[in-house]
Amino acid sequence: MPNVALRSETDWDGWRQATRALVLASVPPSEVTWSVVGPATDLPSGTGSFTVSRALVALASLAIQARDQDRFGLLYGLVWRANAGDNPLASETDPDLLLARRLAFAVRAEAHRMRTHVRFLATEDRLLGWYAPAHFVLEANAQLLARRFPKAMFSLITPDGSAHWDGAELRFGTGLRQPEDDDTLLAWWNAHGAAVLDEATIGTSVPEAEDLDEAPRPPDRPAIGPVVLALATDPGLRTAVRQAVTCQRCALHIPATQTVFGEGPAGAAAMFIGEQPGDQEDIIGRPFVGPAGQLLDRAMEEAGIDRRTIYITNAVKHFKFAPRGTRRIHQSPSPEEIQICRFWLDVERVHLRLKLLVLMGASGARAVLGRPVAVTRERGRPFRLEDGQLAFITVHPSYLLRIPDEASKAREYQAFVRDLAMVRDLMEGG
Ligand code: URA
Repeated sequence: MPNVALRSETDWDGWRQATRALVLASVPPSEVTWSVVGPATDLPSGTGSFTVSRALVALASLAIQARDQDRFGLLYGLVWRANAGDNPLASETDPDLLLARRLAFAVRAEAHRMRTHVRFLATEDRLLGWYAPAHFVLEANAQLLARRFPKAMFSLITPDGSAHWDGAELRFGTGLRQPEDDDTLLAWWNAHGAAVLDEATIGTSVPEAEDLDEAPRPPDRPAIGPVVLALATDPGLRTAVRQAVTCQRCALHIPATQTVFGEGPAGAAAMFIGEQPGDQEDIIGRPFVGPAGQLLDRAMEEAGIDRRTIYITNAVKHFKFAPRGTRRIHQSPSPEEIQICRFWLDVERVHLRLKLLVLMGASGARAVLGRPVAVTRERGRPFRLEDGQLAFITVHPSYLLRIPDEASKAREYQAFVRDLAMVRDLMEGG
């Protein structure tokens, strides 16, 4: 079974070459696996030629930028069928076509969102911006920005990689996980910017999101590798973050988009531990950024906790879900999965050595205590772990989101804020 190893998440050229060779050698989609980096088998050498409609190429060139692990095979299937005379574009209800269109639409929307949301800081020689795009749209957006503002030198940083325009050349380099604020982004740039620029390589040309109706320009070569750097000042933790990117300790990594590691400053006042990344966290690659995270943000603010001063993570670092149609339905991790992933939680605990652990919900509590925990009975009072570290159990914010009755929801939310106010006092040493 051929395995095609693309050179990067946006290796449009590699995907096109492989697709061409596989179709010509009559290799059906079910017999091909696709990966990024990883081991590759030699591509078969087929002879002859075939053409693909411009509309299908345009669709594929956008959808390939989606953060969806099955997209390469999906798009190969569309080309395969078109070549076999079963044109998927002929049916508006074709499920594969609908899926590819959904991906292309999401890419275009995200490219636009990134362009309108990224804020640039002025440094001595360039504009510096950071953003975490939900899809792989950095290259396309950097090309567009460079074309629109040819004289503005900029560096656009994302967790997947960074783009650097110096007025003549667009180069791509290492990315950065979320900085806590503008000052830490600037400090990171001052410390590492020269090295990042030094290692950056000349850019590729990927199809831009606005070009859906134009013939896409073929890219020269890929740019962004999978390297992700944590801002953590602790070098051990930074190494762990890198290693966790390829974690295969349990089967949850297979359907998940990516490992979602904890984040926060090294000298944080507390470590908050949830269950596992949700749908949005899985796509964006950061913990607690979806609905539960937003509720937590609000409750923290009301309790007087600044989220930028805490480290936040999960018991399990991959999203566990059951597919239902186009939706991915959350599934709780098993005790075994929590136990296996405890490896990474222990790494975080050992490297950060924070004085207080806040265990949110049954999975977060189980991960630390190693036993089933009745959260409602044990919540709301600090206690010491065997090693003397202070811990505090409270409910998980997702629990509050699931309460159907508004009055009970409001009551439970207030109880959660009261718990967090106690956590604040503990953080302040009270
Ligand atoms: N729920 C969690 O436990 N963690 C997240 O990161 C998001 C939702």
